[in-house]
Amino acid sequence: MTAATHLLGASFPQYLRPLDLSRDLNRVADLVELCFAERLDSDGRRYVRQMRQAARNPALLGLTRVNPAFSGFVWEEGGALLGNLNLLPVWAMGQRAYLIANVAVHPQHRRRGIARALTEAALDAAENQGIRRAWLQADADNEGAQALYRRLGFQEKVRRTTWHLLHLSDAAATPPGIRTEPRRRADWVAQRRWLALTYPPAVSWHLPLDRKALDPGLRGSLARLLSDRDLRQWSALAGTELLGVLAWQSSHLQADWLWLAAAPERAANVLAALAPAARRATPAHRKLALDLPAGDNEEALQRLGFEAHQTLVWMQLEL
Ligand SMILES: CC(C)(COP(=O)(O)OP(=O)(O)OC[C@H]1O[C@@H](n2cnc3c(N)ncnc32)[C@H](O)[C@@H]1OP(=O)(O)O)[C@@H](O)C(=O)NCCC(=O)NCCS
Repeated sequence: MTAATHLLGASFPQYLRPLDLSRDLNRVADLVELCFAERLDSDGRRYVRQMRQAARNPALLGLTRVNPAFSGFVWEEGGALLGNLNLLPVWAMGQRAYLIANVAVHPQHRRRGIARALTEAALDAAENQGIRRAWLQADADNEGAQALYRRLGFQEKVRRTTWHLLHLSDAAATPPGIRTEPRRRADWVAQRRWLALTYPPAVSWHLPLDRKALDPGLRGSLARLLSDRDLRQWSALAGTELLGVLAWQSSHLQADWLWLAAAPERAANVLAALAPAARRATPAHRKLALDLPAGDNEEALQRLGFEAHQTLVWMQLEL
C-alpha cells in the first residue's frame, strides 16, 4: 500500500483528488505563485498568468504554454487548496513519459506528507496508464524537494546550468590565433557530432533545440521554412581547423538560445571567440541563454559576462 492509499484510507479520506481543470486552475495558480515566490523568473510568472487566463477562458488552454493535456492531483482540505501536482505527458528518450511539475504545498501545511501523497498518487496513475518513466526537475539548491523525490526512488540523471548573457564584459576578447566566420556547410558533420555531446538524449528531449533547423542541407531549409524562429550560426577556426560552432535561435521567452557545438577541451576558447560574435550580431536588448552541464566552463563564461541563471537537477524514476 502506498502512502497515498494509506492516507486516503486512513485519516485524510477526502482530501486527495484528481485535478479538475474547470474549477481548480485559478487556485493552482495562486498556490504555485505563493510556493515558488522567490524562484519564479519572468517566464515562470508569465506561465502563471497564462494559467489564470486559461482558468477564465478554457478555450485559451491550447493557445498558452499551459499544456492542454495538463492533469494532476490536488489536496483540498476545509475548502482550501493546500497542495498541487501536475502531470504533463512528454516524449523523452524515445519513450512516453510523464513530467511531474508544479509540486507545491501551502507553507503552513508542510511536512505532513502531502507532497509525498500527491507524488505517489501521480506515480500510481502513470503506472495504471502504462507509463514506465517519470521525470521531474528541482533547483539544485532545493534540498528539501530533492530529499522528497530521492525517498520515493527518483535518481539524479543530469545537472544543468542555464547561463544568461545580456552585456559582454570588457574582458571579453577573441583568443589569439582564432578567427570567426559564418558557419560553413562543411562544418555540419563535426557540429552535429559535438552537439550530441553537449546535448545528450537525457537533456535534449526538454530543450527547444531543433537540430534539423541547423542542418545546412534541404532538410534544414524545410525546417527553417516551417519554423517561426530566426537562426544564425558562426564557426571558430584556427588556420583551417574547425574548433567549434555556435548557433543562435530566437525565442518567444525571456531569452534567445545559444547552442554550443565544440569538443569539450575546446569549449572555453570557442565560447570566447563566438559568444561576442553572437552578442554583437543579435538584438542587444535580448538576453542570450546557454544550457550546459553544471560546473562546465564556469570561469570562461563569467569572464565573458554570462551569469548563472538557474541550475536544475533532472531526476527520473523507472516505474
Ligand atoms: C517541497 C515541498 C513540495 C514538500 O512538501 P511537503 O508536503 O512538505 O513534503 P512531505 O511532507 O510530503 O515530505 C516528505 C519527505 O520529503 C522530505 N522533505 C520534504 N520537505 C523537506 C525539507 N524542507 N527538508 C528536508 N526534507 C524534506 C522529507 O524526507 C519528508 O519526510 P519527513 O517529513 O518524514 O522527514 C514543499 O516544501 C513546497 O511546496 N516547497 C516550495 C515549492 C517547491 O520547492 N516545490 C518542489 C519543486 S521541485
